[in-house]
Amino acid sequence: MTRIAIIGAGPSGLAQLRAFDSAARKGEEIPEIVCFEKQEDWGGIWNYTWRTGLDEYGEPVHGSMYRYLWSNGPKEALEFADYSFEEHFGRPIPSYPPRAVLWDYIVGRVSKANLRRHIRFSTPVREVTYADGKFTVTVCDLANDHTYCEVFDYVVVASGHFSVPNVPYFPGLEKFPGRILHSHDFRDAAEFAGKRVLCVGSSYSSEDIGIQCYKYGASEVIFSYRTSPMGFELPDAFSELPLLLKVEGKLASFKDGTQREIDAIILCTGYQHHFPFLPDDLRLKTKNRLWPLGLYKGVVWEQNPQLLYLGMQDQYYTFNMFDAQAWYARDVIMGKTPIPSLEEMQADSQSWREKEEASDGASYDIDYQCAYIRDLLTLTDYPDFKHEIMAEQFKEWKHHKEENVLSYRDHAFPSVITGNTAPIHHTPWMEALDDSLEAFLKNK
Ligand SMILES: Cc1cc2nc3c(=O)[nH]c(=O)nc-3n(C[C@H](O)[C@H](O)[C@H](O)COP(=O)(O)OP(=O)(O)OC[C@H]3O[C@@H](n4cnc5c(N)ncnc54)[C@H](O)[C@@H]3O)c2cc1C
Ligand SMILES: NC(=O)c1ccc[n+]([C@@H]2O[C@H](COP(=O)([O-])OP(=O)(O)OC[C@H]3O[C@@H](n4cnc5c(N)ncnc54)[C@H](OP(=O)(O)O)[C@@H]3O)[C@@H](O)[C@H]2O)c1
Repeated sequence: MTRIAIIGAGPSGLAQLRAFDSAARKGEEIPEIVCFEKQEDWGGIWNYTWRTGLDEYGEPVHGSMYRYLWSNGPKEALEFADYSFEEHFGRPIPSYPPRAVLWDYIVGRVSKANLRRHIRFSTPVREVTYADGKFTVTVCDLANDHTYCEVFDYVVVASGHFSVPNVPYFPGLEKFPGRILHSHDFRDAAEFAGKRVLCVGSSYSSEDIGIQCYKYGASEVIFSYRTSPMGFELPDAFSELPLLLKVEGKLASFKDGTQREIDAIILCTGYQHHFPFLPDDLRLKTKNRLWPLGLYKGVVWEQNPQLLYLGMQDQYYTFNMFDAQAWYARDVIMGKTPIPSLEEMQADSQSWREKEEASDGASYDIDYQCAYIRDLLTLTDYPDFKHEIMAEQFKEWKHHKEENVLSYRDHAFPSVITGNTAPIHHTPWMEALDDSLEAFLKNK
């Protein structure tokens, strides 16, 4: 029987399990599936851990999420086509849930479908090799300190790409007298109450962590950008400066000559695509972008179509895009969708890359990822989820952020799956300090 290894039980790996399950429920004969997950529970990065650095087994901690993290996009734009928030929670809920609520939703779908049985937890994949049409996958059962190999016909890499930090150096960091950390190790904004915090980076982590620090009492937040500022209008406690040049004691100097005293530095400088278990010829090498080269339809490793990757793109769409990819991957594996020649695959990818490079900003990028999903949906039977309407929701979300980045999470969107509009949350986001599932779901 054909055997499939899935690496990772985050939203992407779980989407793959769900895709095969949906075929099985239609009476199709599906391959044997084993999902290896290095953490002791599922949900990927949504599975919060207080740990940083190494875990109890000495393994690098996967989690990059922190306390008080709320969805940074409307949940209506990431809703599964085959499992609505309303089905999970029994009623409409507000548009921007905190992490614990989204984790509950992600794992609820696969839990109800009884898919946990396919997963071997606390089992990191150490090595994947390919010879004579088969993969040998070496894993470690951490609880029993036992390393073993199994042979598979296909491997699906769903190990995420927001976990291994990109950590630049700035002169003087080695003598800085305060805390220096990467956003991967950030856990609790309250630690920075009363402090002057410098966030290096101008993307989502910098924006959200800087605002979190302010929400939980930081006296000052400085954002430092390399390419372009975020440009939000913010209270006086915030400022946005060009790139950090050096630090001398507590004094930070920036590219425009400005100097500011700071107490802590948070490097919100993004992540690396990191697959230490793969040999060079099977390994995706890319920066965080909408079209990594080497993957046909963003999924199939062109040099060896028995290897597939999920969720490797920079993301506007998330959970439902991973689903569309997983449904496509399933159909490739089950031979329902033909794979063209290497030259045709590369030409197709190149044309997507050229369109990606023609981008003139966020609106273009949203439409681009929307078009990518449309392409995938023509190839599979993943239910149509009106992703074009979601693209408009993303643009509205962007607009809300430009209006006020401190209150954009107070808006409500309609679900394209159920047609119902979300209720407004009982507490404005800036005042909502309790991020528990219970506090979020209670009626005020
Ligand atoms: C701080 C932060 C906040 C975010 N907030 C949002 C948000 O608000 N909304 C949104 O839609 N998206 C958000 N994202 C994006 C997020 O990456 C996706 O939502 C989603 O988690 C990606 O799913 P994934 O399964 O591809 O990767 P992950 O969630 O990273 O899961 C990968 C899994 O693979 C496992 N794994 C890794 N290596 C191995 C190995 N060698 N062997 C076995 N298992 C392995 C990991 O333990 C993990 O469980 C956020 C990301 C970050 C970093
Ligand atoms: N739910 C939430 O609230 C939340 C919070 C945090 C993160 N997230 C998610 O997490 C994911 C990752 O976001 P991210 O912001 O960590 O990564 P990212 O989007 O890849 O952005 C990386 C940032 O680091 C900067 N950078 C990289 N190298 C640098 C260097 N050497 N010097 C200075 N700046 C440098 C980049 O600047 P350039 O523009 O110059 O390249 C960019 O601003 C996203 O999907 C996001 O949605 C969500």
